[in-house]
Amino acid sequence: MAPGAVIDDVRSAVRAGSSWSSPKLGSGIGFEDVTVSYGKLVVLASLSLTIEPGEIMALIGPSGSAKTTALRAVAGFVRPASGRIRIGERDVTDLPPHARDIGMVVQNYALFPHMRVEDNVAFGLRARREAKEAVKQRVAECLRMVGMSAYTQRYPRELSGGQQQRVAIARALAVRPRVLLLDEPLSALDAQIRHSMLQELARLHEAMPSLTVLYVTHDQTEALTLADRIAIMRDGRLVASGPSQALYREPPTRFAAEFLGRANLLPVTLEAADAGDGLARVRLGEISLLVKARPGLSVGRDCLLCIRPHGIAMRPGGRPSNELTGVVRAMQWQGDLHSVTLETQGVLIRMICAPLRDPPSLGVRFPIHFAAEDATLIPEDA
Ligand SMILES: Nc1ncnc2c1ncn2[C@@H]1O[C@H](COP(=O)(O)OP(=O)(O)OP(=O)(O)O)[C@@H](O)[C@H]1O
Ligand SMILES: [Mg+2]
Repeated sequence: MAPGAVIDDVRSAVRAGSSWSSPKLGSGIGFEDVTVSYGKLVVLASLSLTIEPGEIMALIGPSGSAKTTALRAVAGFVRPASGRIRIGERDVTDLPPHARDIGMVVQNYALFPHMRVEDNVAFGLRARREAKEAVKQRVAECLRMVGMSAYTQRYPRELSGGQQQRVAIARALAVRPRVLLLDEPLSALDAQIRHSMLQELARLHEAMPSLTVLYVTHDQTEALTLADRIAIMRDGRLVASGPSQALYREPPTRFAAEFLGRANLLPVTLEAADAGDGLARVRLGEISLLVKARPGLSVGRDCLLCIRPHGIAMRPGGRPSNELTGVVRAMQWQGDLHSVTLETQGVLIRMICAPLRDPPSLGVRFPIHFAAEDATLIPEDA
């Protein structure tokens, strides 16, 4: 999108927002069977998703999967071809952006370049003709929230990327939106600043627990760190959603497993289903392994055993535990961890562990372990 268009979007978004004095309206977000097309091309297909009031929902997915489109539909910058969008109790589908009570932050900190920091933050309040003294107080309050009180007189070009993004967040919050929409707000920042901004966002949300946040990212770490729930998009469709930890621990599909973190996916066959202890027995090559049972799978079915790299250890831990013998095929030191790739039963398994003082050489054979409760099953065709 052209920078000018982004600025226009932001201009109408920051003019938006009523005050938190309208709690009767609630603050959740609802997509009800929302389809968005550009011309004849459907880019977002039948999205139904509810974000509870006060919840942080991360929308993740590969480039082009329609994350931004979904967010822009909530903001009112694109009109669904069909379906309804709700903010709180209100159906906002037919409302213009400035009537939707939203705050929005986009990837490239579209601050108004010709305005000083304080004027950027005050923009939405002034557009709503708030009293001068109230504007001053609210601007100071918001800049304090994001740690930018010392920069009120600077122009955006005189700020670092992280600082600009803090101002953009202060500007979005100034109008006390009921809903905060964030589109890859940290993606232009380097890893360290991203990390501290993530913590700040979490802190901000703690201070405003009723604020509903829809956070678009393709960074799974951001999603896992910040979000209560995660929704995964693929090719314009919602393919999985759930509480962040549950989705990470028990991904429903291969795509969800691979998109949300790294996963070992081993081809296995179900030998014995749950015998009442929540565990199932599967066969990998010549050996049997115990895993968490997944309802609905019948014995003999081909599945993928999903185990995260840090779920594999050199010593047994957790009961019951599985043991495999692996041959070291690759070894990588990555500062605060070691990544080891081993071959076992004809498949490669990656494990991540604390840095090894005495790393094994390539070709060496040694036992590895994983707890049954850390291993889940995914149907082969899911
Ligand atoms: N204004 C537009 N006109 C036509 N097609 C568009 C327009 N905006 C987006 N698209 C198309 O819609 C699809 C979804 O785009 P969208 O920007 O929502 O993806 P995204 O998931 O946000 O991707 P990214 O991670 O790269 O930001 C893409 O195929 C894109 O080319
Ligand atoms: Mg996008």
